[in-house]
Amino acid sequence: MPTTVREYQDAVLKAKKERGFSILAHVYQSPEIVEIADFVGDSFALSKKAMGIAEKNVLMCGVRFMAETVKLLSPEKRVILAAPDAGCPMAEQFVREEIEDYRADHPDVIVVAYVNTTADLKCVSDVCVTSASALSVVGKLPKDREILFIPDCNLGAYVAAAYPDRKITLWRGGCPIHAGVSVTEAKETIARHPGAKLLVHPECTPAVTALADYIGSTTGIIDYAAKSPDKEFIIGTELSVVWHLSYRFPDKKFYPLTKNLVCRNMRLTSLPDVLAAINGTGGEEIVLDEATLRDAKVCIDKMMELA
Ligand code: 13P
Ligand code: SF4
Repeated sequence: MPTTVREYQDAVLKAKKERGFSILAHVYQSPEIVEIADFVGDSFALSKKAMGIAEKNVLMCGVRFMAETVKLLSPEKRVILAAPDAGCPMAEQFVREEIEDYRADHPDVIVVAYVNTTADLKCVSDVCVTSASALSVVGKLPKDREILFIPDCNLGAYVAAAYPDRKITLWRGGCPIHAGVSVTEAKETIARHPGAKLLVHPECTPAVTALADYIGSTTGIIDYAAKSPDKEFIIGTELSVVWHLSYRFPDKKFYPLTKNLVCRNMRLTSLPDVLAAINGTGGEEIVLDEATLRDAKVCIDKMMELA
């Protein structure tokens, strides 16, 4: 049995080859998992990748809605979530009946669902977006109809600011990690690093994104830091992005916007979980019923068409 990180990585690489697995990892995963993944990306990139995976077995290192999205796009594949307890509190904040009630009162509404939603909520939504695709997708929707944006009111506010002439109704939800950043702590970090550029995820509140030099998805933030001639950055998204950037760009400095930007759910996946899932002694296979597979896919397909 392996007992070190490196031995576990070697065992995972061997097992995945033998058992025909492809490993997808969200960028918020730890460096030791990112290193052994076949593909690493933000939600949008992972959704796109899911469509073209050759292997029959896909292991998702991330949270449940991401594994569900892979299953929706590749129903013929065996999709395994490496850490079954890894959920997203924002995705699970409310149930489909609330959206159905809203629709009943607003029959002309277009329901736009952030991909961070359960498959069940996607069934009652018209189109999905990710943080990377939200602006382009919403820009292509009919201009004369109300949009109900679920479940992240902060990403929704960011989109609404870009389309001031549209009626965009925001829902009450949000990411407890990103939305938990206070303006006070953000200003304290900025004051400690006056020469640094502030890069912020749109799940942060409008009061925090208003302080940013750049607002974008996790890979948008990584790309900005990679291409920028600047040397210091404050990273307003999950702490893992600070680690990944520090490894990749040792000549630049990266500071977390606050030490509280840690998603416990994303941190649940360990290398022993990954190995156990591939070997069939851990993980959870994602199983969705026929109706969910059919209905939830519609809004993801719509995003792929418009993004
Ligand atoms: P991205 O859309 O940037 O991948 O973000 C996903 C997420 O869970 C952010 O908290
Ligand atoms: Fe969900 Fe927030 Fe964690 Fe992303 S960071 S997975 S939105 S709880």
